[in-house]
Amino acid sequence: MKFAKLITTASYLPKSIVSNKELEKVVDTTDTWIRERTGIEQRQLLSPGQSVVTLATQAVNKLLAKVDLDPSKIDLLLVATSTNYKLIPSVSCKVQHATGLKDIPAFDINAACSGFVYALSTAEQFIKAGMYKNIIIVGADAMSQIIDWEDRSTCVLFGDGGAAALISSSDTPGIYRTLLGADGAGSSAIETKGNILSAAESPFIVMKGKDVFKKAVSRMSRNAKDILLGTDFTLEDISWVIPHQANKRIIEASAKQLGLSMDKVILTVNKHANTSAASIPLALDHAIETEQVKTGDLLLLNAFGAGFTWGSSLLHY
Ligand code: ACO
Repeated sequence: MKFAKLITTASYLPKSIVSNKELEKVVDTTDTWIRERTGIEQRQLLSPGQSVVTLATQAVNKLLAKVDLDPSKIDLLLVATSTNYKLIPSVSCKVQHATGLKDIPAFDINAACSGFVYALSTAEQFIKAGMYKNIIIVGADAMSQIIDWEDRSTCVLFGDGGAAALISSSDTPGIYRTLLGADGAGSSAIETKGNILSAAESPFIVMKGKDVFKKAVSRMSRNAKDILLGTDFTLEDISWVIPHQANKRIIEASAKQLGLSMDKVILTVNKHANTSAASIPLALDHAIETEQVKTGDLLLLNAFGAGFTWGSSLLHY
C-alpha cells in the first residue's frame, strides 16, 4: 500500500512587522489587552500592491528551492485560502504560473482556518489512489485585506502569511489518518459581510468572539480524541501537537481539556497572529526549522475555523 508522506515545508511572512504597541495608534486598544486575551505580540502585514498570491508564490518558491526534486515531477498544486481578491481565476492558477509549475492541475480550497488540513487530506487521497506522486499544498491568507481596521474586536487578531508543504508517495507512513468536518449552522459566527450580489455591505470580517472561542476549544479537544480512535496510538505517543494558531487561550484551554502538557504544543501565534489557512503550516515550518520537530516524530495537526470547519491529521514526519 502506498502512503502519503509530508516531506518538508517552507514559509513566507511579509516584511512589515506591526507590534501591538503600533496598533494602539490605530484603534482603542492596548498591548496588555491583546497579550492577555490572545497571546499575540505582533503580526506581519502585506504592503500595498501585494496579495495572497504574493504569499503563496513566495512560499512555493522557497519550498522548490529547498526540496531535492525537479519541479517537473510535481503533479498537483493545491492552495488553501479564503482571501482571494477575485472570484476567478483561482489563487492556485496564478501561483502555478508564477512558479513555473507548467500545465499541472491547480485548484483552491476554501475551508477558512481549516484549509491546510483539508488540502492535506485531499493530497493524501490523490496519492493513495495512485493518481499522483508529488503534490504541493499551500496555506496562505491575506487577512489584513478583509479586516476592518477600525474594529478593535477583530483587527488585533489577524496577520498575513503563507506556507507550503511537499506531500509525496511513500512505502512507509506517512499520514495515518485525516479527519474533516463542518457545521454550517455556525456560519454566521465568523463571516465577511459583503457579497458580490450587493455592494451595499462592507467586505470585512465580523465575528461573535465568545461563541467562536467556546466552539473552538470543544471542537479542537474532540478532534484530538477522535483522530486517535481506531489507531494504535495514544495521546502519550504524540511528539508534537500543532494546533491552529488563533489565540493562545484557545490552545491552552483545549490542551487542558485533553490533559495534554503545553510542552508538547507548538505555539507561534505570538509572532504572526491568526493567519487562517497559513497558521498550521507556519507553525509546522517554524518547528521543523528550529529542530523542535525531528524526523520520525508523531505529529497531530488540529484545525478549527469559519464555516464552522475542522480537521485533524495524525502523521509521522
Ligand atoms: N482592545 C481593548 N479592548 C477590547 C478589544 C481590544 N482590541 N476588543 C474588545 N475589547 C473590549 C470589549 O469591548 C469588551 O469591553 P466591555 O467589557 O466594556 O464591553 C471587553 O474588551 C471584553 O470583550 P470580550 O469580547 O468579552 O473579550 P473576550 O475575553 O471574549 O476576548 C476575543 C475577545 C479575544 C476576541 C476572544 O473572544 C476570542 O479569542 N475569541 C475567538 C475568536 C478568534 O480567535 N477568532 C479567529 C477566527 S476563528 C478561528 O480562527 C478559530
